[in-house]
Amino acid sequence: MPAPEIALTERFQSAFAEAFGPEYRDADPIIRPSQFADFQCNAAMGLAKRLGAKPRDIAQRIVEAVDLEDVAEPLEVAGPGFLNIRLRRDWIAAQVAGIAEPSAQLGLTDPEHADTVVIDYSAPNVAKEMHVGHLRTTVIGDALARSLEKLGHTVVRQNHIGDWGTPFGMLIEHLLDVGEDSDEAKLLESDPNAFYQHARAKFDGDEAFADRARRRVVTLQAGDEQTLVIWTRLVELSKQYFHRIYDMLDVTLTDDDLAGESTYNDQLPIVTKQLEADGLARISDGALCVFPEGFLGRDEKPLPLIIRKSDGGYGYGTTDLAAIRHRIEDLGADRIAYVIGTAQELHMTMVFETAREAGWLTDAVEATHVKVGSVLGEDGKILRTRSGESLRLMALLTEAVEKARTVIDELRPDLPEGERAQIARDVGIGGVKYADLSTAHDSDYVFDLDRMLALTGNTAPYLQYAVARIRSISRRAQEQGVVADAAPLVDNDAERALALQLLQFAPTLEQVGAAYEPHRLCAYLFALAQDFTSFYDASPILKESDSQVRAGRLALAQLAERVLVEGLDALGVRAPQRM
Ligand code: ARG
Repeated sequence: MPAPEIALTERFQSAFAEAFGPEYRDADPIIRPSQFADFQCNAAMGLAKRLGAKPRDIAQRIVEAVDLEDVAEPLEVAGPGFLNIRLRRDWIAAQVAGIAEPSAQLGLTDPEHADTVVIDYSAPNVAKEMHVGHLRTTVIGDALARSLEKLGHTVVRQNHIGDWGTPFGMLIEHLLDVGEDSDEAKLLESDPNAFYQHARAKFDGDEAFADRARRRVVTLQAGDEQTLVIWTRLVELSKQYFHRIYDMLDVTLTDDDLAGESTYNDQLPIVTKQLEADGLARISDGALCVFPEGFLGRDEKPLPLIIRKSDGGYGYGTTDLAAIRHRIEDLGADRIAYVIGTAQELHMTMVFETAREAGWLTDAVEATHVKVGSVLGEDGKILRTRSGESLRLMALLTEAVEKARTVIDELRPDLPEGERAQIARDVGIGGVKYADLSTAHDSDYVFDLDRMLALTGNTAPYLQYAVARIRSISRRAQEQGVVADAAPLVDNDAERALALQLLQFAPTLEQVGAAYEPHRLCAYLFALAQDFTSFYDASPILKESDSQVRAGRLALAQLAERVLVEGLDALGVRAPQRM
């Protein structure tokens, strides 16, 4: 079911062809929402230039040629040649009734081409704490994965965990020293940084241990079977920890999505060989490097991407080159989205350029670095605890749920204990995720739990409360035997505004999927919830005495609920039944 812009575009383009000739059919009618009407068509200025005529005259000719009788009221020419469009109420009503049909998926239609989209997100490191930086890539990546799936694309999640490299020598030796079943080993599941730091302290203070650790790196890289068994155990324990966080966060990542750095080990020599054969890699200061075109350092010298270090070890970039090749050649990616911190921008663009020069990344594939900004403390610096360490994600989430609990206890002391606990979880976690998602992904934001959990403003609790309100109306309607056995009513101005907003759900989600911008969906849902509030103030439902009107308003409210819940689900935020 087309949204208004699509229907209007088709009609205007036919008019351009009719009035000015077939070569004008493709002209963009430039249809935008407007404060003076529902929409404005701003095509006359551009066309006037092409045709060498006055914009107002062109506007007049468009008015005469366009057939909008069933869609809009007669057009109005304003200012230098803007066309004000006011949609017909019956047309809006028919569109809204269309998207409300159970089979219409709220207006979402199958894409012209279903893309295979690989999304690289979360990517925490084994035996390290996930920090707030990982929170952002996890939450944003998951919202993109959910949204793209709703849009009918095939999503391949890739969790590029850091499970390989020199620190594993000391981590393995420490695990061997303390034993797999020790309390120290259990730290890997609950407080991995502590485990890491204990290993590190031994490495720094105990020469014999440091020697063992270094030798262990060599046996690990040589694929020694016993070493691999212990390494696997280390990764297993870390996975338990990651999954505890993912469960808490309602993130869709599973073990099947794990594709850690180690999975590319076999490919690294092959990738390296090809880069050498293509003449892209050469030795520089003892290391094998590529110098992708267009990257200069200070002193104007070409910047290297290290392929193989002088000690024979491969670089972080080599793994990413193996990964991009795998994603294109084996996973069949049409698009790859890397949801990774802004700090890695140079690394990502160098990897993309090298992959292009090697012929792996072609014009048929779109690779994007979805840059993720930082989470700041109230002092405007990267969020840390008072003692200066980076903040533990689990502690932060637990605090959010506790805080939400005090809000819910105050709001709904009448609800049973178990339900209040569940709502606190949905609101606390939803609030944190939503605050992250509603900020443009490349902007920084200040972590402020009070604001995240506020019941007013562009927050999860505000939207969750709007949903709960509609659900409460539906419950009371059911008690009173009122059924929504009518099409959504589009009569007064508030109903009309809400209906128009509902028609924007599908196009908004499409934008989110195309530009990788979940914050657009947040802004949309916030506007929708506000329109619902205005509608409900103007249009009482259960107090309405006309049964037809009552049923039509209930149907409109229930459609708003469905869109809000579906939109929140695309973001990975739950909507409680009551609040
Ligand atoms: N593990 C890395 C980190 O914690 C992020 C990896 C991002 N993904 C990638 N393909 N490089 O910083």
